Amino acid sequence: MLWKAEYETGIRNIDEQHRAIVEFVNLFEQAGENRSGRNYVPGLISRARTFVEFHFRVEECLMQLLPYPDAESHAAEHRNTLREIERLERLECQTGHESARGELARQMRGCLLGHIVTGDKWLAQYALELYDGQSSAVAGTSGTKLGKVVC
Ligand SMILES: [Fe+2]
Ligand SMILES: [Fe+2]
Repeated sequence: MLWKAEYETGIRNIDEQHRAIVEFVNLFEQAGENRSGRNYVPGLISRARTFVEFHFRVEECLMQLLPYPDAESHAAEHRNTLREIERLERLECQTGHESARGELARQMRGCLLGHIVTGDKWLAQYALELYDGQSSAVAGTSGTKLGKVVC
Protein backbone atom coordinates (compact mmCIF):
# COMPACT_ATOMS: atom_id res chain seq x y z
CA MET A 1 0.00 0.00 0.00
CA LEU A 2 1.49 3.28 -1.10
CA TRP A 3 1.03 6.67 0.50
CA LYS A 4 -1.05 9.00 -1.65
CA ALA A 5 -1.28 12.78 -1.64
CA GLU A 6 -5.04 12.47 -1.02
CA TYR A 7 -4.28 11.07 2.49
CA GLU A 8 -2.52 14.30 3.52
CA THR A 9 -4.35 16.31 6.15
CA GLY A 10 -1.99 19.30 6.03
CA ILE A 11 -0.87 18.85 9.65
CA ARG A 12 2.67 17.51 9.49
CA ASN A 13 2.77 15.47 12.71
CA ILE A 14 -0.56 13.79 12.04
CA ASP A 15 0.50 13.00 8.47
CA GLU A 16 3.75 11.46 9.71
CA GLN A 17 1.79 9.26 12.13
CA HIS A 18 -0.61 8.23 9.37
CA ARG A 19 2.40 7.28 7.22
CA ALA A 20 3.63 5.11 10.10
CA ILE A 21 0.22 3.39 10.23
CA VAL A 22 0.52 2.71 6.47
CA GLU A 23 3.91 1.11 7.19
CA PHE A 24 2.29 -1.16 9.81
CA VAL A 25 -0.35 -2.19 7.23
CA ASN A 26 2.44 -3.06 4.80
CA LEU A 27 4.23 -5.12 7.47
CA PHE A 28 1.05 -7.08 8.22
CA GLU A 29 0.47 -7.72 4.54
CA GLN A 30 4.06 -8.96 4.17
CA ALA A 31 3.67 -11.16 7.26
CA GLY A 32 0.51 -12.65 5.74
CA GLU A 33 2.49 -13.71 2.66
CA ASN A 34 5.38 -15.14 4.67
CA ARG A 35 4.91 -18.29 6.81
CA SER A 36 7.80 -17.31 9.09
CA GLY A 37 5.79 -14.17 9.88
CA ARG A 38 4.07 -16.09 12.70
CA ASN A 39 7.11 -15.56 14.96
CA TYR A 40 7.04 -11.80 14.93
CA VAL A 41 3.35 -11.04 14.32
CA PRO A 42 2.28 -10.94 18.02
CA GLY A 43 4.96 -8.30 18.76
CA LEU A 44 4.02 -6.43 15.62
CA ILE A 45 0.33 -6.29 16.62
CA SER A 46 1.28 -5.06 20.06
CA ARG A 47 3.50 -2.30 18.62
CA ALA A 48 0.80 -1.33 16.11
CA ARG A 49 -1.87 -1.14 18.85
CA THR A 50 0.38 0.97 21.07
CA PHE A 51 1.18 3.29 18.18
CA VAL A 52 -2.47 3.64 17.12
CA GLU A 53 -3.42 4.39 20.76
CA PHE A 54 -0.74 7.09 20.86
CA HIS A 55 -1.91 8.53 17.54
CA PHE A 56 -5.56 8.63 18.66
CA ARG A 57 -4.49 10.37 21.89
CA VAL A 58 -2.70 13.05 19.84
CA GLU A 59 -5.83 13.71 17.78
CA GLU A 60 -8.07 13.65 20.87
CA CYS A 61 -5.80 16.18 22.63
CA LEU A 62 -6.01 18.40 19.55
CA MET A 63 -9.82 18.08 19.54
CA GLN A 64 -9.96 19.03 23.20
CA LEU A 65 -7.70 22.04 22.70
CA LEU A 66 -9.65 23.52 19.79
CA PRO A 67 -12.38 22.54 20.99
CA TYR A 68 -13.72 20.49 18.07
CA PRO A 69 -17.54 20.19 17.75
CA ASP A 70 -17.50 16.59 16.43
CA ALA A 71 -14.99 15.37 19.01
CA GLU A 72 -17.34 12.80 20.56
CA SER A 73 -18.22 10.97 17.33
CA HIS A 74 -14.59 11.15 16.17
CA ALA A 75 -13.38 9.66 19.46
CA ALA A 76 -16.08 6.97 19.21
CA GLU A 77 -14.61 5.91 15.84
CA HIS A 78 -11.20 5.70 17.53
CA ARG A 79 -12.62 3.51 20.31
CA ASN A 80 -14.29 1.18 17.81
CA THR A 81 -11.07 0.81 15.82
CA LEU A 82 -9.04 0.10 18.97
CA ARG A 83 -11.57 -2.48 20.15
CA GLU A 84 -11.27 -4.23 16.81
CA ILE A 85 -7.45 -4.21 16.92
CA GLU A 86 -7.58 -5.61 20.49
CA ARG A 87 -9.96 -8.37 19.35
CA LEU A 88 -7.56 -9.34 16.56
CA GLU A 89 -4.61 -9.20 18.95
CA ARG A 90 -6.40 -11.66 21.27
CA LEU A 91 -7.27 -13.89 18.32
CA GLU A 92 -3.65 -13.97 17.19
CA CYS A 93 -2.35 -14.57 20.75
CA GLN A 94 -4.85 -17.31 21.59
CA THR A 95 -4.77 -19.27 18.38
CA GLY A 96 -1.85 -17.98 16.31
CA HIS A 97 -4.57 -17.64 13.73
CA GLU A 98 -3.05 -16.79 10.36
CA SER A 99 -6.18 -14.94 9.25
CA ALA A 100 -5.76 -12.46 12.13
CA ARG A 101 -2.84 -10.68 10.48
CA GLY A 102 -4.62 -10.42 7.12
CA GLU A 103 -7.75 -9.21 8.88
CA LEU A 104 -5.71 -6.72 10.89
CA ALA A 105 -4.03 -5.42 7.72
CA ARG A 106 -7.50 -4.95 6.18
CA GLN A 107 -8.81 -3.34 9.37
CA MET A 108 -5.93 -0.91 9.57
CA ARG A 109 -6.20 -0.12 5.88
CA GLY A 110 -9.93 0.47 6.38
CA CYS A 111 -9.21 2.68 9.39
CA LEU A 112 -6.73 4.66 7.36
CA LEU A 113 -8.76 5.09 4.22
CA GLY A 114 -12.18 5.32 5.84
CA HIS A 115 -11.31 7.45 8.84
CA ILE A 116 -8.38 9.53 7.59
CA VAL A 117 -9.91 10.74 4.36
CA THR A 118 -13.11 11.74 6.15
CA GLY A 119 -12.94 12.35 9.91
CA ASP A 120 -9.26 13.22 10.16
CA LYS A 121 -9.37 15.55 7.17
CA TRP A 122 -12.42 17.37 8.58
CA LEU A 123 -10.64 17.72 11.92
CA ALA A 124 -7.46 19.03 10.26
CA GLN A 125 -9.40 21.46 8.09
CA TYR A 126 -11.25 22.79 11.13
CA ALA A 127 -7.96 23.20 13.05
CA LEU A 128 -6.18 24.88 10.14
CA GLU A 129 -9.06 27.26 9.44
CA LEU A 130 -9.24 28.19 13.11
CA TYR A 131 -5.47 28.75 13.18
CA ASP A 132 -5.68 30.74 9.96
CA GLY A 133 -8.40 32.99 11.39
CA GLN A 134 -6.56 33.56 14.66
CA SER A 135 -3.22 34.29 13.02
CA SER A 136 -4.99 36.83 10.78
CA ALA A 137 -6.54 38.53 13.79
CA VAL A 138 -3.22 38.67 15.68
CA ALA A 139 -1.02 39.69 12.77
CA GLY A 140 -3.59 41.91 11.07
CA THR A 141 -2.67 40.23 7.80
CA SER A 142 -4.44 37.87 5.51
CA GLY A 143 -3.09 34.99 7.58
CA THR A 144 -1.25 31.83 6.64
CA LYS A 145 -2.22 29.78 3.65
CA LEU A 146 -4.16 26.63 4.50
CA GLY A 147 -2.06 23.54 4.34
CA LYS A 148 1.20 25.41 4.94
CA VAL A 149 0.88 25.31 8.71
CA VAL A 150 3.40 23.09 10.47
CA CYS A 151 2.09 22.05 13.88
FE1 LIG B 1 -8.91 10.28 13.98
FE1 LIG C 1 -5.68 9.71 12.41
